[in-house]
Amino acid sequence: MQPRLIQVDRADPSASRDELLRGLQADPAAIPPKYFYDALGARLFAAITELPEYYPTRTEAAIFARHAEAMARLLPAFAALVDLGAGNCEKAARLFAAFGVRRYVAVDISVDYLRESLDVLRHQHPRLDLLGVGLDFSSRLDLPAAVGEGPRLLFYPGSSIGNFAPADALAFLRQARAAAQGGALLIGVDLVKPVDVLEAAYDDPLGVTAAFNRNLLRHVRRVASADFSLTDWRHVAFFNDAESRIEMHLEAVRDVAVRWPGGARRFAAGARIHTENSYKWRLADFAALLDSAGFGDLHHWTDDNDWFAVFLARA
Ligand code: AVI
Repeated sequence: MQPRLIQVDRADPSASRDELLRGLQADPAAIPPKYFYDALGARLFAAITELPEYYPTRTEAAIFARHAEAMARLLPAFAALVDLGAGNCEKAARLFAAFGVRRYVAVDISVDYLRESLDVLRHQHPRLDLLGVGLDFSSRLDLPAAVGEGPRLLFYPGSSIGNFAPADALAFLRQARAAAQGGALLIGVDLVKPVDVLEAAYDDPLGVTAAFNRNLLRHVRRVASADFSLTDWRHVAFFNDAESRIEMHLEAVRDVAVRWPGGARRFAAGARIHTENSYKWRLADFAALLDSAGFGDLHHWTDDNDWFAVFLARA
């Protein structure tokens, strides 16, 4: 079937500019991680997922490969598989046969990211009903009516939930529960593990994560006309044990002045811009979070090291 495409949220360059400049002037300075994903940033992230040090992608894939049939046996009936942050749609496509999917809804910030992937799927699965939705669901998970009635299986892999602070993760999960319309949520969650494993995953020796982090400044230069020079900034990543999160920052290697139309900010050598948090959960704490969001009948699967978990929860 020909994929249908709907763009719900439109890019708003002046809102993005305001958001970025607010962050740059904040104390401490911060840039929201969604700005990582311009065209080059998306490619750099894809490269990160291939790094030997970045265990989440392959560990999660192995959990799905091993347990998809067991997951399928526990799924409630659902009318549509809704893939949040679908990108190339590959993770969900691997589950179509085991889960008996008939309607697939790929959600990402822009339908332009989805057009090609859905076209490939159309040839591989000619009888599948395909819908692409362009939606910035990080601020509001409000699916359009075109998704259709009936219970939905929401699919949120990759531990993207880890990029929300716990209170925001709870708010997001509550919205996910409502959006599932009595169906279920299948979600990937990265777990607490030895610090050296965590820190290597976010500061790889090849420097791909460093490039991903510093590429953010190119994006800010373009969107907010701020005159960042990339050579003034270095990538910093470490595990903050008290907060149970990897933090990524950009650190000024010398005294730097950044100017933009109508403003400027000085950064002393060593000053940082906070660019991302990636929370690492304990199994029991994430189960409690799902419970607080109103989910029930929880099941989870992990790898042999307990590095990563996939939870299935009834809405
Ligand atoms: C998208 N997200 C789950 C990634 C993570 O691991 O938090 C983003 C990332 N940042 C650096 N490496 C990967």
